[in-house]
Amino acid sequence: MDVCSWQDWMQTVHRAVTGLTAQPHDRGHGRLLSVLLRGISRLLERSNPSKSSGSTKAPSLSSNLATINAIPDRKGYDKMSDIEKMIGGDYAQLTNTNIRSFGWKGVTVSVKDRQTQQPKTILSDINGIVKAGELLALMGPSGSGKSTLLNVLAHRTASLNANVKAAIYINGSSANPKTFRRISAYVEQEDALVGSLTVRETLSFAARLSLPSTVSKLERKQRIESLLTAFGLQGQANNLIGTPIRKGVSGGQKRRVSVAAQLITSPKLLFLDEPTSGLDSAASFEVISFVKDIAKRHNLIVIASIHQPSTSTFAMFDKLLLLSQGGTAYSGPVAEVQPYFDACGFPIPLYMNPAEFIIDFVNTDFARDRGEVDQQLNMVHSSWHKSRLASATVTELTDEMARNSMDTDVNAEAKDESASRLAIPIALIHRSFIKSYRDIIAYGIRVAMYMGLAVMMGTVWLRLNPDQANIQSFINAIFFGGAFMSFMAVAYIPAFLEDRALFMKERANGLYGPTSFIVANFITGIPYLFLIAMLFSIVAYWLSNFRPTAEAFFTWVMWLFLDLIAAESLVVLISSLIPIFVVALAGTAFANGLWMCTGGFLVPPHTLNPFWRYVFHYIDYQSYVFQGMMVNEFGQRSFTCAQSSTAPNGCTCLYETELADQCLIAGTGVLKNYGYSTGSTGKWVGIMICIIFGYRLLGWLVLYLRRT
Ligand SMILES: Nc1ncnc2c1ncn2[C@@H]1O[C@H](COP(=O)(O)OP(=O)(O)OP(=O)(O)O)[C@@H](O)[C@H]1O
Ligand SMILES: [Mg+2]
Repeated sequence: MDVCSWQDWMQTVHRAVTGLTAQPHDRGHGRLLSVLLRGISRLLERSNPSKSSGSTKAPSLSSNLATINAIPDRKGYDKMSDIEKMIGGDYAQLTNTNIRSFGWKGVTVSVKDRQTQQPKTILSDINGIVKAGELLALMGPSGSGKSTLLNVLAHRTASLNANVKAAIYINGSSANPKTFRRISAYVEQEDALVGSLTVRETLSFAARLSLPSTVSKLERKQRIESLLTAFGLQGQANNLIGTPIRKGVSGGQKRRVSVAAQLITSPKLLFLDEPTSGLDSAASFEVISFVKDIAKRHNLIVIASIHQPSTSTFAMFDKLLLLSQGGTAYSGPVAEVQPYFDACGFPIPLYMNPAEFIIDFVNTDFARDRGEVDQQLNMVHSSWHKSRLASATVTELTDEMARNSMDTDVNAEAKDESASRLAIPIALIHRSFIKSYRDIIAYGIRVAMYMGLAVMMGTVWLRLNPDQANIQSFINAIFFGGAFMSFMAVAYIPAFLEDRALFMKERANGLYGPTSFIVANFITGIPYLFLIAMLFSIVAYWLSNFRPTAEAFFTWVMWLFLDLIAAESLVVLISSLIPIFVVALAGTAFANGLWMCTGGFLVPPHTLNPFWRYVFHYIDYQSYVFQGMMVNEFGQRSFTCAQSSTAPNGCTCLYETELADQCLIAGTGVLKNYGYSTGSTGKWVGIMICIIFGYRLLGWLVLYLRRT
């Protein structure tokens, strides 16, 4: 009997066996029989290697069995049928009708080595082609160049200052960047999700940020609902994604939300960077099966870098590109992996996960004998270059290029279809508001902290009488109120860094730029800062007994409000520049220390030495807050002098003013001591607004220039 008929027979038997395993209690026997059959089939293949390795026909029995066995047990089958049951949504826009293939030729990337300063090749001459409806797994040991290749293919920055040579083709023609952006989407390794949104809201905001206004509301809703259904997320649609203190959906579901959110614009080409990292094998299997299902259903091209997939997850891919030290170790159908390595003389052991074996095989990191491993790797690379599959890839690419150039309808779709300029900041502001009222960490705790401070300040400076003994305490309270409230803006750093990280990811996906981000961030902050200024003042101002008029109260609130806006703008600038929490914290604390020292309270402006005065004092927002509050308190208030039986008019005054004969001190006398004049409040407010604007502009510039 020849091998093929043996294979048919064995497959029939295997089907019967897997039928048996439908009964959970029979699972053990079923697996045993499967393993037995797999062993027999491997023996048969070995006896006829030309047939098993050279054939481009149907995959060998062992790989078929591997594929079927790959689904570890009944649980896997149940999952598949559950998934199928869940998928009901039809999503016509998603269907790819015009992208036939995606190919790349001669991808070579070199960088300047950080240590030796010599050119270092991190990818050399990588070829590949993926057809519509196919899933390609990009695998290789750590540092083999997966992320670099994925970035090159997705038209993203490969690596800082990298020299990239690549020819990338869609339907055999070079794609222009606009076309490419329109038809592709990239899902980052780390989920770029807002934890306090629900699953449905996440998709809805993705739609608002990416879809042009020509897509009607109804269509958006339909797209969202179909994607929820297609990714099995209907049941979780109203659940929160989850924050550190509020449990949300599971890790696998989160990953599915990330992929679904990228599919809202109906891309035809999907890049996934490590879509299963951090997930257990069941969750990884689930994520990839949803992706596979949608790719098959809609003829999409999926390229995913993947680390150590389980046998079942690996078997779901159509093609594999295996990298090793920047070179190709294998590129071609998954079904031919086993025969290929068998034929090369590196057979995959019987009971081993093939993905694990081939990655370990090309991994040189933990080698004891470096020379031997390098030799083996050279052999792997040269076997690949000489292989039939390598030339088949080049032939396929050449054939594609020879076919007519880029289809006209692909270019036709290349018009810039992004959301309107106004819709983006509005959506961002809306999203931030939802986040701020749901995410207690971002705002609630800060409000509580400021309230605690207000009670503390109000009770320390409790009901001070306007007499001369309290003048210094009033001045101290003004300094403390302005400076400490500004200092506490450091509490905003974590929330801003989170928003910044999300912005970076969304910008890399081409959703919006720094202008929308900075504008939305500024507008979102205003009501909260006003609320904080108001609540703090209601408690602290009246408890401390500052000048008790409505006008004085609201002037104080205004200064505090401007102070908080300036402090938050400074946080935005510093954290944009150095997006590392501890460093941003140190930088902001240092800047606040500087502004406190040069603000005019610790050393009055006229005695401050010229360097600090001219370089820092005049651009110090805290100095305007301090003098504004001082004028507010002392400009129109008088303080009683101390009684004295020895003085001619019965009292001694610390400050000699025109009211001395009435045993009073005019507040203006205190101001004179600091060199402050009344009547300049408008000018100072103007300067404050300019400083705030300056910080925001610099923050924008930093974000505009920094892409990482
Ligand atoms: N600017 C650079 N200078 C020197 N080496 C670099 C530079 N950029 C990247 N590399 C090197 O290029 C190689 C490929 O990196 P890449 O991130 O693509 O690997 P990877 O396969 O994605 O690894 P992992 O699985 O760990 O994510 C690594 O060895 C990395 O150290
Ligand atoms: Mg990587």
